[in-house]
Amino acid sequence: MCPEIELNCQKRESEVEQLLDSIVTLPTLPAVVTKITAIIDDPDSSINDVARLIAKDPPLAMKVLRLVNSAFYGMRNPVSSIAHAASLLGVNVLKNLVLTANICKAFGGLKGKQLFDRDAFWYHSVATGLLAKVMIRHSKKRSRSDPEEVFAAGLLHDIGKVILEQFLTDEFINIMNISEEEGISFYNAERRAECLSHSEIGAGLAERWKIPDPLVEAIRFHHAPLSGSSPSLMACVVSLADDCLHQMEKGPASPWALNPDILHAIELNPSASGEIRADFEEAMGDGELVEILTG
Ligand SMILES: [Fe+2]
Ligand SMILES: [Fe+2]
Repeated sequence: MCPEIELNCQKRESEVEQLLDSIVTLPTLPAVVTKITAIIDDPDSSINDVARLIAKDPPLAMKVLRLVNSAFYGMRNPVSSIAHAASLLGVNVLKNLVLTANICKAFGGLKGKQLFDRDAFWYHSVATGLLAKVMIRHSKKRSRSDPEEVFAAGLLHDIGKVILEQFLTDEFINIMNISEEEGISFYNAERRAECLSHSEIGAGLAERWKIPDPLVEAIRFHHAPLSGSSPSLMACVVSLADDCLHQMEKGPASPWALNPDILHAIELNPSASGEIRADFEEAMGDGELVEILTG
């Protein structure tokens, strides 16, 4: 990155810091997520310690079990205990499950202003996570990424929009107006308005939440995944999934126009798109996952 661009990035990151510092009611992640991460990092702990921690929080345990038994995980036999889920899924999957279950909860309380359709927002967020997860499984680079983390990155990618709407309302309205009047995307309208973008704000929030760096970078670069010197695999796959879902909003049945540079970066064969679409539609089902996560 050239020094001028780097300096500009640092300046914008410190503007995001100032903004987030100024928000007293900024959503926080429940302590259980931090505790689970600490247990995982502790070499003396076991998967049973994680299971015990989740089981102590009955609403969370219930949500985790509903997720495990949803079409998303495709378990052949019903899973009825957290200990069983832990032994089947492993600690990493469980950690990300707890993270995703809590992200929606952390944002559920922000209902002051509703300037955009929140149900459609969560549907899009969950669908992006799901499609990105299906895509990474078809990529030749799949071994370099954890599919559960990819799902979490997709779920979180637009979270900065909620912060913009709730705490920078005038800017948010201005962006929406520009987008509508000029028929351009929300992201391009942000650039036109020269304000902080939802991707920068979302990444700043994720950093505060001490979410793993690859997820933070995926949020930061989901609209420009190839802009850095070494593109992030997760940013590329989230960007591709996001783009496909926007195409589906315009024409649900039309074939996807896939960005060849991103396909190349993640080593995904475009001929796999039919299978990816079928897997995605099956896992999305009738929106069960959205209902579990946001219910
Ligand atoms: Fe976005
Ligand atoms: Fe998006």
